[in-house]
Amino acid sequence: MSGFNNRNHAVLLPERLARFGPVEPGAKVKVRIPTEHRSLPFDQAIWPEEAAVLRTVSRHLPNVPKVLATRRGFSVQTFAEGTELAAIWGSKPNVKGGVVEGLASLFAALARIPVDELPKPPAGWPAFGDSTGFIHCLIDYTRTRVEAPAHARYGPLFGALGFPADALRRFSDGLPRDGLTPRPFVLLHADLHPRNLIYNEEDGSLHAIDWELAMVGDPVHDLAIHLCRTEYPNRGERQRFISAWHRAVRAANLPAVADYRRDLPWYVGYQRVRSVYTDVIRSVELLGPAPTGEELDARAAAVCRVLARAWAPVGLPGSPSLGGVRAALRDWAAERSEPGPPLADLRARLRRRLAEARTAFSGYFAGAPAPLPPDGPPASASRMRAR
Ligand SMILES: Nc1ncnc2c1ncn2[C@@H]1O[C@H](COP(=O)(O)OP(=O)(O)O)[C@@H](O)[C@H]1O
Ligand SMILES: [Mg+2]
Repeated sequence: MSGFNNRNHAVLLPERLARFGPVEPGAKVKVRIPTEHRSLPFDQAIWPEEAAVLRTVSRHLPNVPKVLATRRGFSVQTFAEGTELAAIWGSKPNVKGGVVEGLASLFAALARIPVDELPKPPAGWPAFGDSTGFIHCLIDYTRTRVEAPAHARYGPLFGALGFPADALRRFSDGLPRDGLTPRPFVLLHADLHPRNLIYNEEDGSLHAIDWELAMVGDPVHDLAIHLCRTEYPNRGERQRFISAWHRAVRAANLPAVADYRRDLPWYVGYQRVRSVYTDVIRSVELLGPAPTGEELDARAAAVCRVLARAWAPVGLPGSPSLGGVRAALRDWAAERSEPGPPLADLRARLRRRLAEARTAFSGYFAGAPAPLPPDGPPASASRMRAR
């Protein structure tokens, strides 16, 4: 099971590890193997150890992975039985009613966790409650670690797409002069969308996984991330979730929702601008040198949608043209001098990581996790996370 950043192997818990943990021998657990960054560091991870965050979170929330062991950056965690919420999100509206409330309670539970139990944020992190400093900190990260290298590496492409090299400065200049409303900082999951939620059909519970981007900050940022990475079928459903979030989080931590209606659009705007970099780059990295017309059409439509959402937040006039985007992608594919690493290289790298994980846990698992099949697909090369 893999996403963009990790490969997870489900294995049965050996006796030796069960002695230390809350699960029975023979229960299914997962070995989590961080994969190497193939691209730019799109996401800001403020805590190096997901396990440290999970130790605190699991004291307060029942439905999160419990860490059973860590070795050299790999970890063994409990496995959530159920279905990835993304697989049933669009198709079962009857399920969604309960899920919306469950999700809202998850955000409320986060807003209740005492922040002094969390690992310390890095030096220079905004003072707790300084929402204005927080949004600027997010913008600064993306400007320096994503936007600048993106334009250095893919300058002609962004030029052809009409997307300016100073998009984030332009967005930042538009923020309200008097700043955002101060809200108490809380623990944020920072990637809570249906691919990171496991739904248990038996009891209707939701299990939140993938905590490596967790941070402490303005709760409205977490809401914006969820809204931008989750496809609500229409405005009414989206609004229904926002109201449920408001009710639940207000009951947990009243000042955490102060003025959220006024400030939510700024966090959504930030997501839309940063998504241009993540989505355009991931799109062209998956594009072969001679894409078919159909592939170009599909990618151009997706990129055009992402650009259109960021157009106004960046203060650009008009809207991007689908034909222009298609031509930009076609020319980029034809002209780029450095194609991405061949799939065989990616596979070899993944095999190396698996072997490392096997060595790290050799005392516990005889021969697990299992190796990749010889012609198995490369990690995540064919899946694109909604951003
Ligand atoms: N504890 C778990 N229980 C069930 N499925 C899981 C669990 N952890 C991961 N998965 C599956 O593996 C996929 C990728 O794992 P994730 O931790 O989200 O990796 P990434 O950081 O790359 O997104 C998830 O979308 C989910 O389908
Ligand atoms: Mg994930």
